[in-house]
Amino acid sequence: PRSTQGVSSAASDVYKRQGSESPASFGLNRLHPVIGTEVHGFSIADPGGTTVIEKIRRAWLEHPVLVFHDQVISDAEQIRFARHFGELEIHPSVAHRASEHPEIYRVSNVDEAGNILPEYSNEWLYLNLTWRWHTDSSFRKIPSTGSILHGIEVLEQGGETLFANLEVAYAHLDESTKSAIEHLSVVHSHDYILSLSSELSRRKEQGEYTHLPPVTHPLVRVHPDTGKRSLFLSPHTMVGIEQMPDPEGRALLDRLIEHATTDRFVYRHRWQAHDVIIWDNRCTMHMVTPFDNQVERRIMHLSLIHISAPTRLGMLSYAVFCLKKK
Ligand code: OGA
Ligand code: MN
Repeated sequence: PRSTQGVSSAASDVYKRQGSESPASFGLNRLHPVIGTEVHGFSIADPGGTTVIEKIRRAWLEHPVLVFHDQVISDAEQIRFARHFGELEIHPSVAHRASEHPEIYRVSNVDEAGNILPEYSNEWLYLNLTWRWHTDSSFRKIPSTGSILHGIEVLEQGGETLFANLEVAYAHLDESTKSAIEHLSVVHSHDYILSLSSELSRRKEQGEYTHLPPVTHPLVRVHPDTGKRSLFLSPHTMVGIEQMPDPEGRALLDRLIEHATTDRFVYRHRWQAHDVIIWDNRCTMHMVTPFDNQVERRIMHLSLIHISAPTRLGMLSYAVFCLKKK
């Protein structure tokens, strides 16, 4: 039996570049039975041609959390790589944007001058809200497609990132729950994130954020590229279920969250410096485990990939890819 953190070589898979060029290839190793796959033999700074990138994209559709090690990349290289997958979002929180590259969101308790953020500053409080389960940009009308996170300064312990597979969690629901939630929708709001910090919610001045009105998303969503259903959960933005009064709606959401975050659906990533993780926000959620962020330093650079329309081309190419594999 596979351990949760174990590497299964039986599940490893190698994609080779077709054609006459040098036989560039990368390998895949599962890190968990249902989520978390390591990629080796691939350089984000020097990814090779579009064929290889397309193969990474396809691997990513099959393995929604891809982990790359030893990727010493600049922000510019991260941005260049991320742009192969879509446009890039600018995060609503002004304080966390990198000053040179606003499309880099600094998930960091250390400012650009190298100082730990003052305890109870707005930026520090806001960052601590990543310790709750969420999917990126669920507060947007079109949530983030996927994210790319580069670990620059990481911890020995704590500050791990947990990822839950919401597609597999959905598949494991009983049929009556599936039919009960099929047509429900959930109101998501960026303001709700702020309300989760008792300290921030008391403040008149909470920091500078692009204003985003509340939006509604289905509770069960269909992945535009794979056609698979999954739960759409993002506890830090979920105000409530539209069709249900609050106590029942909340109870149902809490029950689904608890189900989706049991170990069998969750991969825990212990960071090494210059790991890069690419995840699919359309079928996963994630959180950071708490650490002493007035003492320890954690610097991570995040890119948020945005695809504004469902990609028929993506779906078609994926179908062709699956047929070929058979
Ligand atoms: C985020 C986030 C993950 C991490 O900032 O949205 O989830 O490991 N970060 O820092
Ligand atoms: Mn996140």
